[in-house]
Amino acid sequence: MSGHPAAGAAAARPLEQHVWPTTAALTTDGELTLAGLTATDLARDFGTPAFVLDEQHFRDRARLFRDSFSEAFGSVGAEVDVYYAGKSFLSVAVARWAREEGLRVDTCTGGELAVALRAGVPGAEIGLHGNNKSDDEITRAIEAEVGRIVVDSFAEIDRVAELARAAGRDGGARVPVMVRVTTGIHAGGHEFISTAHEDQKFGVSLTGGQALAALQAVLEHPELELLGAHTHIGSQIQDAAAFEANARKMLALRAELQAATGYLLPELDLGGGYGIAYVPSDVPIDVPALARDLADVVGSVCAELGTTVPRISIEPGRSVVGSTTVTLYTVGVVKPVTLEDGSVRTYVSVDGGMSDNIRPALYEAEYTARLANRTGSAETVAARVVGKHCESGDIVISDIELPADVARGDLLAVPATGAYGRSMASNYNHVLRPPVVAVADGAARVIVRRETEDDLLSLDVG
Ligand code: LLP
Repeated sequence: MSGHPAAGAAAARPLEQHVWPTTAALTTDGELTLAGLTATDLARDFGTPAFVLDEQHFRDRARLFRDSFSEAFGSVGAEVDVYYAGKSFLSVAVARWAREEGLRVDTCTGGELAVALRAGVPGAEIGLHGNNKSDDEITRAIEAEVGRIVVDSFAEIDRVAELARAAGRDGGARVPVMVRVTTGIHAGGHEFISTAHEDQKFGVSLTGGQALAALQAVLEHPELELLGAHTHIGSQIQDAAAFEANARKMLALRAELQAATGYLLPELDLGGGYGIAYVPSDVPIDVPALARDLADVVGSVCAELGTTVPRISIEPGRSVVGSTTVTLYTVGVVKPVTLEDGSVRTYVSVDGGMSDNIRPALYEAEYTARLANRTGSAETVAARVVGKHCESGDIVISDIELPADVARGDLLAVPATGAYGRSMASNYNHVLRPPVVAVADGAARVIVRRETEDDLLSLDVG
């Protein structure tokens, strides 16, 4: 067994603040608090597992993106729109907060579009993405007069034009579209979340003049307004240079289109993908610094090319919501397991798992955790945090030192679960999806309620 000599009641290990919500703190008893509420009270009032979302942190991140990018790009003469990527986590409340902080909302399905519209986000401030949009999704987007539809293939350009015509959009107000371009820049935390290299399903490639041809194809449709080109190179990117290289390629494409047709794209979307810290050793992207670097690149490349600076948009998801949220679990079975080499690993089972966080199983994503209801002993054990699903890969944290006295009934808090946690949650094993509880200024409210067995059974029509 790994660990350290017992030292009785320990001083609480400090919070690694960059991994936790900004209002997270510890009481003198080592209990975790969020926006002034103790983990114990939150668990008592809302049950576990539960996603606890720090509203102020969400608003601060949204505003940081808006202010940093507006200021940086303002200095090179460009305006900026920040679209919150709803796929990371979307609910009516967060869509409203995003809007109140000056962000627009990026959606990629009819479902996400429906949530944004229900939140009262005006169509003009919504974008619709997707590599395989249905006719119905496109028509709903056209009817909602969304600010842009990002077309993903040649075939879709014709289809959007046809549906625009069917919706009576010829002649008058044209449907604003962007073309999704893959630039060959490969970046991101895992192969499955890198999106702009060649052998994958998104967008139209720069190679062989395909992206240029797609932009020209849009220009030939009188029902469509060519707003710009769009690119997104991956997710959980820690390397700022990848964003800059990508921006250069997009600006070159814009100049090429102008040379070929005389049409200068008014906008470029440089996507999302900014990395955050999941474990203490991760270094999150420095948002203001990145905004300045990107703006410098855009400003200087446009000067070299002799073009005006385009309006810029970006689509951060994870980096707005990821660090705002902590998952609270209750510890159940604690089982020491002797390994082949004679060492012992303590399996700590919690009351959720791969149904509320699929990222470790899907991307080998790493997380950290701490006891949330007390300090625990100074002596630690080598532990693995696992869920309650009937699957050995149901692992939340593969290797972590936890207080040796971790016991049934303790609360365990896992930070940085705001992005792609609840949004990728499933009902595997008919486990009920957890609620999302927003906390702010000492008050908590449910913004997405816990699923019930009635919800499950109502879908099963026999
Ligand atoms: N824009 C587009 C077109 C995207 O495809 C994505 C993410 C984003 C923006 C937002 O990226 P973010 O800033 O959140 O990194 N489920 C994976 C991430 C998939 C990302 C898909 N697209 C994960 O859990 O890591």
